Amino acid sequence: MIAFAALAIAAWLGVGIYHIATAPESVQDSIWGIPKQIGTPDIGGPFRLVDQTGALRSDSVYRGQYMLIYFGYTNCPDVCAIALIDMSEALELLGEAGNLIRPIFITIDPARDTVEVMKEYAANFHPRLVALTGEEAAIDEVAKACGVFSERTATDQEKVESYLVQHTSRIYLMGVDGRLLTQFPYDTPPEEMAESIRPFL
Ligand code: NI
Repeated sequence: MIAFAALAIAAWLGVGIYHIATAPESVQDSIWGIPKQIGTPDIGGPFRLVDQTGALRSDSVYRGQYMLIYFGYTNCPDVCAIALIDMSEALELLGEAGNLIRPIFITIDPARDTVEVMKEYAANFHPRLVALTGEEAAIDEVAKACGVFSERTATDQEKVESYLVQHTSRIYLMGVDGRLLTQFPYDTPPEEMAESIRPFL
């Protein structure tokens, strides 16, 4: 009930309507507060996608590095960009330790988020950000492995190109083995994110 009330308030405020913090029951109560570690749910999986330079990137390239992963889309009207800015700031706050982490943005809207679009968008964020797109099936596979839900929302039938995408908005910290270490709600302040990440490094 508390979680439902929180979502209702979020909808009323117009915040996060298209960003669902679909968390396991154990983290529902952390959506509006300090994120807490939730053990190691089975989140994460292999991927073969294309980065903003057109290079093929598989998850194995990043074994041995930490990954900070966010799923979203470039046409997002609100918090996708904020989440990516917050991720970038958290990495800066970590100083040199932040270099151990590869920030990764994966689109859940590959139909519009081409390599060119991703390149332009990624330039707004952390200089080491890898922005990945790919075949819809490949995107679906990694999204599913990470427990990410997404669905197009038809806002205007006459403007099918301007659709919105309702999607899970969580930031995942993956370990050097590619498995989940912890996750954050999209509205986690960068300072909190950095302090939560630091002990893992
Ligand atoms: Ni978004």
